[in-house]
Amino acid sequence: MQLLKRTVYCGQVNNLQLNTEVIVNGWVAKRRDHGGVIFVDLRDRTGIVQLVFDPQADAGIVQAAHALRSEFVIAAKGVVVARAPEAVNDKVATGHWEIKVSELVIFNKANPLPFQLDEQDKVSEELRLKYRYLDMRHKKMHDILKMRHEMLFAMREYFYKQGFYEVETPILSKSTPGGARNFLVPCRTQPGTFYGLVESPQIYKQLLMAGGLEKYFQIARCFRDEALRASRQPEFTQLDIEMSFIDEQDIQTVCEGLFSILWKKFLNIDLPLPLPRYTYDDVFARYGSDKPDMRFDVQVNDATPLFSSLGLNFITSVVAGGGKVGCLIVKDHRFSRTDLDRWTDHVTKELGAKGLLWFRWKEDGALESTIAKHVPADFLQKAQTAIPGLTAQDTIFAIAGDYDDAWTVLGQLRLSLGKDLNLIDHSTYKLFWVTDFPMFEWNKETKSWQARHHQFTSPQEGWEQQEIKDVKARAYDLVCNGEELGGGSIRIHSSDVQNKIFDIIGIDRSKAEEKFGFLLESQNLGYPPEGGVAFGVDRLVMLLSGTDAIRDAIAFPKTQSGSCLMMQAPSTVEDAQLRELSIKSTIVEKKAQH
Ligand code: AMO
Repeated sequence: MQLLKRTVYCGQVNNLQLNTEVIVNGWVAKRRDHGGVIFVDLRDRTGIVQLVFDPQADAGIVQAAHALRSEFVIAAKGVVVARAPEAVNDKVATGHWEIKVSELVIFNKANPLPFQLDEQDKVSEELRLKYRYLDMRHKKMHDILKMRHEMLFAMREYFYKQGFYEVETPILSKSTPGGARNFLVPCRTQPGTFYGLVESPQIYKQLLMAGGLEKYFQIARCFRDEALRASRQPEFTQLDIEMSFIDEQDIQTVCEGLFSILWKKFLNIDLPLPLPRYTYDDVFARYGSDKPDMRFDVQVNDATPLFSSLGLNFITSVVAGGGKVGCLIVKDHRFSRTDLDRWTDHVTKELGAKGLLWFRWKEDGALESTIAKHVPADFLQKAQTAIPGLTAQDTIFAIAGDYDDAWTVLGQLRLSLGKDLNLIDHSTYKLFWVTDFPMFEWNKETKSWQARHHQFTSPQEGWEQQEIKDVKARAYDLVCNGEELGGGSIRIHSSDVQNKIFDIIGIDRSKAEEKFGFLLESQNLGYPPEGGVAFGVDRLVMLLSGTDAIRDAIAFPKTQSGSCLMMQAPSTVEDAQLRELSIKSTIVEKKAQH
């Protein structure tokens, strides 16, 4: 077949080509027959141009054009002409011109598609993912992938200019404890052994610092076998950064430089720098979250004294046990009884709290509440003293319990209310650092302490004199609009401290030696003070492109259950493949047991 090679992109046809002959390549987006003259919208990655097949000029070519259908892949040669004034289409960039076709080559025909490209938003996501290559022909997906490419380029350009080295680190690595569950890859040549796919290049980048590289970055693929939530993928991309001889401020400043470029380039927003910094204790107290969405104003109030004064048994015992009562105020909104029941169900059934107290006032001033009988007549006045700004038009939602648990539920309720009542200002970006995280968190299931960021994070000065629960980490997260965009820390650079942290999180010396001996040894062979951070590239694309699904930000994503619907992965493999890897499946045995 003759390859008529393009001389101009469809979307770039303009006055410069007027009255000259061009060749365009692309997909038939639309074909219309107007009294014998055939019009075709031809699409390539830049846009659309109109082709005209005119029987007066060439009867044969019109005959050929009759065969064209949607998504046929063709080449057309012809002269660019100006459209008659009444035929100009201002909505399309090339709407002033058209190509009078003299030669047509059909590279490939197309069967009717499983879905119409312009109905992409009406079809199920499963179908879109199964036919991802069709989905990508739609402008929305195309624009996101283009934006992602431009963002990666801007990142590389920025770090290159700042003197960072881009270093690729292995993906086939060692399965290590303490982080997300690793995907395992059997090693054929060493039967019975496995690689772990890297959950992040964390240890490698630390060793690059031990290697004297000082400033490193990488656009790195990461793999985590964990429960998939809205903004998580099992395979995702990080912008990974590490620097030596620095403190928290240095790392944050370098990142802010990049973010101001990205915000300007993709949102045309001048990001005021430095970005705000809030401590973990502060944001958790005010928003019940370590990644609060600050685009709306509702905050959590500590109203323990107010509610304790009611003398109710369950509150008294919560407070006696060290708990607190927190509340949210929804301003100027009248909930129906059905709404209040729905919010109570949300909090108890979906968020796992024991109960939700609500309070509101009727027009005549009478209080309505889950516990109205137990509330004194002057409750509004007392509440107004405890919660400045409260009025009788507001509704109070309160939860009593363990501080962390109650505040977490209030934080989630706050978000649900924000979305449901349209309180969120979608035109704004609230970007800030959260600092001074707790170093450890108590895992209720394993009944043990674990590192809240990761086990290589340095505790803050004076930590050995503190109780484990009070120790703070030299860790920081970057948060935007309720999403954690990135997180990092200053690392431990002494094997002595590293071993003490392993002790606390239950990694004993022999396990530490087996799993991390190489790192501990490096810390005794000249290891610089250092730290770093990593950002979720997919989440950033999501945010900057305005899409609300992480899958839209990725060319070939996995579903919530970790499947690739296009390739049907994961899949079973031949027994012979397993034998070669010295692997015996237990699935057959399990089935037999049932
Ligand atoms: P962390 O685990 O916080 O830190 O990851 C950094 C950022 O990566 C993104 N991210 C994800 N994106 C999509 N799907 C996932 N499953 C997923 N998991 C994480 C988030 C997150 O903020 N090594 C450390 C960084 C460091 O200390 O330098 C790390 O990986 O945006």
